[in-house]
Amino acid sequence: MRIILCGFGVVAQSLAKLLESRTSDLYSKYGMKPRIVGVFDSKGCAYDNSGLDLKKLVNVKKEFGSVRAYDKSQKIISGLDMIHNLDADVLIETTASNYKDAEPGMSHIITAMKKGLHVISVNKGPLALAFPSLMELATYNQVLLRFSGTVGGGTPILDYAKNSLRGERIISFQGILNGTTNYILTNMAKGLSFNDALSDAKNKGYVEADESLDLDGLDAAAKLVILANWIMGLKVTMKDIEKIGIRKLTSKDIDDAAKKSCSVKLIASCNDKLVVSPIEIKNDDPLCVDGTLNAISFTSEHSGTQTIIGRGAGGIETASSILRDLLDIRKEISKT
Ligand code: HSE
Repeated sequence: MRIILCGFGVVAQSLAKLLESRTSDLYSKYGMKPRIVGVFDSKGCAYDNSGLDLKKLVNVKKEFGSVRAYDKSQKIISGLDMIHNLDADVLIETTASNYKDAEPGMSHIITAMKKGLHVISVNKGPLALAFPSLMELATYNQVLLRFSGTVGGGTPILDYAKNSLRGERIISFQGILNGTTNYILTNMAKGLSFNDALSDAKNKGYVEADESLDLDGLDAAAKLVILANWIMGLKVTMKDIEKIGIRKLTSKDIDDAAKKSCSVKLIASCNDKLVVSPIEIKNDDPLCVDGTLNAISFTSEHSGTQTIIGRGAGGIETASSILRDLLDIRKEISKT
């Protein structure tokens, strides 16, 4: 399986290490031999049709800050040129999410699908802004579009609802889908002010470079869009989500909730409406998880409510979701 990797940040580097360390068992257990034939970051690119040396790639990035130093004799080409010119089967899109125009990820994904490449995206931006049309484009071009890591990181939330609950009718769901705000709210419940809790979360490296994505509910809203499309068959995008973030919450709001044995959590819900908003939930509700954890409760017609809890972010966790998607793609294409 020949792969082009867009972006070489924490998740992509974790993926490179994961593939490197699992070479023999991926082959013996699944018959899969993933080869990264091209990679680019914001400063340059590296490519080799017979597969890049992943250990060297990670070391070069660590030492020089870009994959460009992998082989300086190579001509620098843009990400899009790489997608056009390299012979590959799968594109993995890991560049940063943005919810204004979703670029450059949107162009990477569209170009790759038009060229007949299957796509795995951990970048939420393109899906949040254009899920229905991207799915149509994938179908039209007879390629697979997978995105396990966009909701729940390594925790297989999408897979659970789509496959484990197959045949069921999911009536509604609600979840904590943003670990950063959950960490801040957990610390506010322990007595920290919003500003102190935010600084602590920043020091721990949890907060997105653009803090608004976490604090104003955009990240949670993007995940809600993906769930609503994939699980409920709705054709919605970011503009269909009502969202209120956590900036206006005060310690008094948190204390008032505590007096009722409740906690304030940033909840993304799909009921008769799609909403992201801080709400009070009972402390003994399985959904009421603390710290950076994510949790989601699905309520189905026959099997009742089930909650899935896990880590919703992290390099290696999210890399494991990409591996899941790669195996899924391999299984699907081996049927044809
Ligand atoms: N900023 C996100 C979070 C990262 O805190 O959950 C994972 O999407």
